[in-house]
Order: sequence, then C-alpha cells, then structure tokens
Amino acid sequence: MFSRPFLQILLLCTQLASANSPIQLGFIPLAVKTPYLHAWVTNSHGSSPAQQMSQTFFNTNGPLGWSGMIRVDNQAFQWMGVFPINNATTVLNEVTPTKSVFRLQAGLMQFNVTFFTPIEPTDYVRQSIPFSYMFLDGFAATDSQPHNIQIYTDITAQWVTRDNTQVVMWNTTETGTMVYHNVTRKTPPLTANTNDFAEDSVVYYAMAKRPGLTWQTGPHVNCRGGFAANGTLPNTRDVDFRRVTQNSPVFAFSVNLGAVSPDSQPDPVVVALGLVRDPLVTFATESLTQNRSGYYWSAYTSIDQVVNAFINDFSGARERNAGLDNKILSAASAISNEYAGILSLVTRQIFAAMDITIPSAQPGQFNNSDVKIFMKDMGVSLRTNPVEVIYGAFPALLYFNPSLAKDLLLPLLEFQSSFLYGNPYAAPDLGTKYPTIPGNTSNTHSLAVESCGNMLIMAYAHAAKSGDGSLLSRYYTILQGWADFLVDNSLYPSDFVTADGLNNANMSNLAIKGILGVYSMAKINEAIKVSNNTFMDRTKQLITDWKRFAVTNDHIDSVYGQSTSWGLMYNLFPAIWLNTGLIENNTLTLQAGYYEKQFGNMPSSNFGLSLDSSRPGVASPHWTLMTAATIPDNLATVRNQLIKSIYLESFRLGVVFPLPVTYNPSTGIHISGSGSAIQGASFGMLALRSV
Ligand SMILES: *[C@@H]1O[C@H](CO)[C@@H](O)[C@H](O)[C@H]1NC(C)=O
Ligand SMILES: *[C@@H]1O[C@H](CO)[C@@H](O)[C@H](O)[C@H]1NC(C)=O
Ligand SMILES: *[C@@H]1O[C@H](CO)[C@@H](O)[C@H](O)[C@H]1NC(C)=O
Ligand SMILES: *[C@@H]1O[C@H](CO)[C@@H](O)[C@H](O)[C@H]1NC(C)=O
Ligand SMILES: *[C@@H]1O[C@H](CO)[C@@H](O)[C@H](O)[C@H]1NC(C)=O
Ligand SMILES: *[C@@H]1O[C@H](CO)[C@@H](O)[C@H](O)[C@H]1NC(C)=O
Ligand SMILES: *[C@@H]1O[C@H](CO)[C@@H](O)[C@H](O)[C@H]1NC(C)=O
Ligand SMILES: *[C@@H]1O[C@H](CO)[C@@H](O)[C@H](O)[C@H]1NC(C)=O
Ligand SMILES: *[C@@H]1O[C@H](CO)[C@@H](O)[C@H](O)[C@H]1NC(C)=O
Ligand SMILES: *[C@@H]1O[C@H](CO)[C@@H](O)[C@H](O)[C@H]1NC(C)=O
Ligand SMILES: *[C@@H]1O[C@H](CO)[C@@H](O)[C@H](O)[C@H]1NC(C)=O
Repeated sequence: MFSRPFLQILLLCTQLASANSPIQLGFIPLAVKTPYLHAWVTNSHGSSPAQQMSQTFFNTNGPLGWSGMIRVDNQAFQWMGVFPINNATTVLNEVTPTKSVFRLQAGLMQFNVTFFTPIEPTDYVRQSIPFSYMFLDGFAATDSQPHNIQIYTDITAQWVTRDNTQVVMWNTTETGTMVYHNVTRKTPPLTANTNDFAEDSVVYYAMAKRPGLTWQTGPHVNCRGGFAANGTLPNTRDVDFRRVTQNSPVFAFSVNLGAVSPDSQPDPVVVALGLVRDPLVTFATESLTQNRSGYYWSAYTSIDQVVNAFINDFSGARERNAGLDNKILSAASAISNEYAGILSLVTRQIFAAMDITIPSAQPGQFNNSDVKIFMKDMGVSLRTNPVEVIYGAFPALLYFNPSLAKDLLLPLLEFQSSFLYGNPYAAPDLGTKYPTIPGNTSNTHSLAVESCGNMLIMAYAHAAKSGDGSLLSRYYTILQGWADFLVDNSLYPSDFVTADGLNNANMSNLAIKGILGVYSMAKINEAIKVSNNTFMDRTKQLITDWKRFAVTNDHIDSVYGQSTSWGLMYNLFPAIWLNTGLIENNTLTLQAGYYEKQFGNMPSSNFGLSLDSSRPGVASPHWTLMTAATIPDNLATVRNQLIKSIYLESFRLGVVFPLPVTYNPSTGIHISGSGSAIQGASFGMLALRSV
C-alpha cells in the first residue's frame, strides 16, 4: 500500500538514476481549464519551460507566448519563453491531477513554478470560471544566504488569435485590490473556431496588488529587456493597437521581492490567466435561438468581480485541491503507481472538455435554474455532447459529481424528446458545430445500438449512483422507445458500427452494450415503479443467447462463432459497476486469462493490446483502462499489465499527445485525437471502489 502520492516516489527513483532528471512526460499540462483555455508545454529532458519555448494549444496548433524571468542579485534568468538570456534549469518536476510543478534553479536560487488549474467538481460557480493560476514559491538559495529577487512574467496576444493579420487591442485596469491586462481581437470574427482555437475571446492576465508590483504593456523587447536591465516595469500603457506579430505587444507584470532569505519567505507570487468567451455556446435549432453563458454569471455581475473572486480564492483553492489531489492519488496508488500517474495526466482534461452554462435571454440577464453542460469532442471534431465520449467519461463524472453527468445528458434528452427529433433511436450527439448547437436529426441508424445502449446505461447509472430519478420519469417515453429498439436489434447487430468504427456483423462487445441498455430500462421501470416485467424478461433471454453465441471455453469471441476473433470487452464494465449479476466471475476470469495470453504473444516492447482482432494496430487508452476495470481482483497482474501499457504509452519524452484517442500499439505512435474527456474511462477502477 502506498501512502504517498506516486509521483513523489517516481521522482525519488529518477533522482537516484540521475541527479537531474524530471519526469518522463513529453507534454505537460499548464493551463487546462476549458475547451479553449488548454495550454501545454513540450518537455525537453532536463530543462525548464525556458528552453522548451513552445507553450502550445492542446492540438499543437501554434504557439502561445508565455514568458517568465527571475533576477537573482541583478542577473536575469529566463524560466519560460524565448528571450535570449541565461536559462533557469529544471531540478525536478511533478504532475498531480490539478497541477504541474517545476522546481527550477537560477544562479544560486531554487524556486517552484506551479501551473495550477483548480478542479471544483461540486461547485459550478468556481468550476466554470475560465481562469487558471500560475504561482512561484519555495524560494531557497543553495548557499543559504539572502539574495535579491525580482520576478517577471508576460503573455503575448497569441492567446486571442491564430491570425497574424488581425489587429488586437488591450488595456490595463487597476482597482483597489488588483491589476489586470486584457486583450482581444479588434474585429469580431465570423466564427468562434479556427482549427479548434477560439477567435472570440478576451484574455486576462491578472495579479492581486502587493508591494513591489509593477506592470507594463508594450513591445516584447522593451518589457522583457527593461525588466532584465532594471528589475522593474514603469506602469505604462502601449496604446498603439497593432497586429500580434508586429513589434509583438506583451502584457507584463513584475514583482520586486527584495532580499529573500531562508527566514523571510515571500508570499507566493500568484498570477491568474483567463480566457473569457461570452456567449459560450449558442443553440440554433429550428425552434430555438439561445445564447448561453458561463454558470459563474449566476454569482457575479461584472468581470471585475469574477477576476477579483478568482484571485482572492487562491489560498482556498490551493487547499481544496491539495485535498482532491490526495484523495485521487492515494486511492489510485492503492491500485498501482502507474495508475496514479495516468490519473494525474487525465483529470484536468476531463473537466476542460466541458462548458457549464445558463441562458442569457438578454445580455446580462441569466436564468440560473436552467443549467446545461456541453462537452466538446476535444481533439477529434466539433461534435457537441458526443454520446460515446460521455459514456467513456462516465466513471469519472459519477466519481466526481453525478450532477455533471445529469446536466450533460439533459440537453440530449431534451432535444430528442422535442418535436424536432423523429428518429426511433438515440442520436450520437447534438450536432457537429461546437460552440453552435443545432441538434442532430440526421439518419444515424448505423450508430443506433451504440447510442441507445450508451444513453440507457448512462441514464440508469446516473440514477442508481445518485439516487436522483428525475431524468427517468421526465424522459420515460424516449428511453422506453430506445429500449424497444434494442430489444429488436442488439442481439445480432448486423447493420451497425461502433463509435470506434468497427463494423462486423454480430460483434459481441456491441451486443452486450445493447443488452445492458435493455437491462437498464428494466431497472428504470423498477426505479419509477412501473410494474412491467417485459424488459427484465427480455434481458434474461438476450443474455442467455449472448453467452451461447459469444462465450467459448477459451474466451469471448469478438464476433460470434469466430474463434480467432477477440477484443477488449470494455462494455462488460457497466455490467459489473451496476451490480447487474448478468456476467459470471468465471467469464471475467476466462477473458482476463486470454488478455494475459495476448500479452505473452507480443513483443515486450509493445504498448498494449489492440482494441479488436479485426483492427490490429489500433489501440485506445480509454477502452484499455475501462477493460482493466473488468479484471477480477485476484488477477491484479493482468489488470496492472493493461494499466502499465497505457502508462508506458503516455509517460514518454518526445510524445506530444499523451493519451491519444487511438495509437499504434507496436510503435506507440499516435494515430488520432488528443485532450479528449473520453479518458475519464480511466476512473473506472476508482469508481468501482467508491460507493
Ligand atoms: C537558453 O535556451 C535556449 C533554448 O535551448 C538557447 O537557444 C539559448 O541559447 C539559451 N540561452 C543561453 C544564454 O544559454
Ligand atoms: C517544490 O516542488 C517540489 C516538486 O513538486 C515539491 O516536492 C516541493 O515540496 C516544493 N517545494 C516547496 C517549498 O513548495
Ligand atoms: C478591458 O477591460 C476594461 C474594463 O472592464 C474594458 O473597459 C475594456 O473594454 C476591456 N478591453 C479589452 C480589450 O477587452
Ligand atoms: C484604458 O484604461 C484607462 C484607465 O482605466 C483609461 O483611462 C483609458 O481610456 C483606457 N484606454 C482605452 C483605449 O480604453
Ligand atoms: C531602466 O530604468 C531607467 C530609469 O527609470 C530608464 O530610463 C531606462 O530606460 C530603463 N531601462 C530599460 C532598458 O528599460
Ligand atoms: C447571441 O450573442 C451574439 C454574440 O454576442 C449576438 O450577436 C446575438 O445577437 C445574440 N443572440 C441572441 C438571440 O441573444
Ligand atoms: C428558467 O429556467 C427554468 C428551467 O428550465 C424554466 O422552468 C423557467 O421558465 C425559466 N425562466 C424564465 C424566466 O425563462
Ligand atoms: C450527426 O452525427 C453524425 C455522427 O457524428 C454526423 O456524421 C452527422 O454529420 C451529424 N449530423 C448533423 C446534422 O450534425
Ligand atoms: C449472427 O449470429 C447468429 C447466431 O450465431 C447467426 O445465426 C447469424 O447468421 C449471424 N449473422 C451474421 C450476419 O453473420
Ligand atoms: C410493457 O413494456 C413493453 C415494452 O415496451 C410494452 O410493449 C408493453 O405494452 C408493456 N406492457 C404494459 C402492460 O404496459
Ligand atoms: C464475483 O467477484 C466479486 C468481486 O470480486 C465478488 O464480490 C463476488 O462475490 C463474486 N461472485 C461469485 C459468485 O463468486
């Protein structure tokens, strides 16, 4: 049993191996809060963000200028960015679910730079504030003497546009308690998205007022050079609005900490970075046009209040999130160290895929009781509330707060029970134009078993784990219609594909999902006291037939009757999680043994198992980890093999997409997708262990 967070242990190990080696993670999250505030940095072994120079948007679609310097006894060092001066070096780094920490050395001074994205699962106001912290603390000189310290940081206008021909504008606002810079495009764009990047944002860079704080907006050479030379900024505005790359304007802060000695530790230097969009999403269906804003507007009336609240909440957020980190990491390390490492990497991106919204009928007038959450199909497409992604994320959503799950399902159920929707099966999403939401009324029959199964399982799982049955009674009619569809179509799925694109007839993993959908409807009937045994009777017949066709004395055939076919049977997970009693332990044990055999059959250099024998060469971290949650406890070695394969795939230098949606398991090379909330499937093992 490990009582300490895993990464500290890893750090100790790597420190033994080499006195100066940071974690083996190729791409480190910096500010990962919303679909559009999603900054990462490439990790180059042994160096600080300074030498990496490429903080980048999650899909690596261009750089995001973000700089930091420190002056130690009048000598300037850079710890982040591209300015040609001495570099700080990384002593060690650490990633937890809510933060990425770099311990840096500049001259004789060591200090920590922490990129901290608070996660507030049960507080929609805080969770929806589109801001993230960076802070510096832990100053310690290697000679234990006092040293004179000044800190500098800036951002460029690359955070508001990818289009270098656009003119940007900005200003600096001082209130009694804070100073913030804000920057935006001068001409509003026609569409919010360009290659996933938001062109319609106002970006904020803010600090609480404190002694020694100075600021400046101006050409990068002036601000950075001025600080490097003088250790202070002149509190002046550049008012020559221009293009991003024309004499690049930067928005800078500096803090003079004075003499820092072992017995005079300064307050942490805290900077808040925010990317504000309003509206966040727009419903544009045939019957409704509605702008929706961030839920935090239910609590504040001006952006100044929001920024101020975020800045003032730093200590509280830090404490709450240390608790959250501990809770996740101690539970995860009880399973394996690698598992804790994976959860450290995925947690922020699960939350950052979602916008928590309320409608703004008129600018400034919000309806706080009409809450809906929208998820972007991060790193893959502009689909809204992609059903199979939510299904993947479901273990995490219910682990953190079942309301998140409910408020994501709600708009799907609401749209599909409106007169606009006519299909007798569930839709795969709400359309493909995030952040515009037209709904999806296309013929998506080929995905119907997948989508109906997912929706029914999720609707029931939410009610079972939360005790809140309100969605079930409100949307009973469409849920029942989808269950009827599954009764007819789930056992021999022949014209259907999975969301992974597998399209064989008679796929057992798709069939079991459909059958669990029928089972879910039976339980929904029980929950809302409809006495109708039809669905439970059908479930029993279907599962008996399924076992007859799919389960051999060797393993579960991926395609009925094809004894060489096999696959990761991740859809067995809800059968276990929801205590259905439909799948015997023997079957799980048999299948786990078969996975072990597959590991034995492949080179040890492999990064895990393919998803299905009909698609060799394609693996998925999320389904691998959901499968790991189906392995009986007495076969922990098999479970840990699955976990370890994903750990090795993601914790590698040189890999810029840790946890892609698909990758090649023989080479580890990324095939598609990054930043997806589907990785919430990794929480399956924790979800099973929490009540
Ligand atoms: C700092 O690091 C960058 C990138 O590795 C390098 O180009 C630059 O020369 C370094 N600066 C100094 C003064 O060594
Ligand atoms: C600095 O960061 C390292 C790595 O996360 C951590 O072990 C250490 O406790 C931090 N130091 C301080 C003084 O916060
Ligand atoms: C910055 O914020 C101030 C105060 O809220 C506002 O008046 C100004 O229009 C904003 N400027 C930009 C470029 O967003
Ligand atoms: C910037 O803010 C200052 C102080 O609030 C104000 O005097 C000035 O007019 C603003 N400039 C622009 C261009 O909005
Ligand atoms: C340093 O400060 C002095 C006095 O305020 C100023 O004249 C000078 O321009 C500054 N140096 C730079 C490089 O900004
Ligand atoms: C929605 O917001 C956009 C952008 O601010 C605005 O142009 C439009 O008028 C708003 N529509 C409605 C229906 O409020
Ligand atoms: C606010 O939202 C609730 C829940 O959707 C709805 O019942 C109510 O009518 C709305 N209020 C207004 C003023 O639109
Ligand atoms: C409906 O969903 C499918 C699958 O995501 C997609 O191919 C199709 O374009 C969508 N239709 C609309 C109108 O968004
Ligand atoms: C599906 O499996 C059933 C039962 O084994 C079989 O009767 C049927 O022919 C199969 N369908 C296809 C298209 O292979
Ligand atoms: C029970 O449910 C089935 C499946 O939806 C339906 O066909 C049947 O009419 C229901 N029976 C009663 C008595 O409502
Ligand atoms: C199956 O395994 C689960 C979890 O290990 C255990 O709780 C249950 O008692 C087992 N059931 C049987 C019938 O052995």
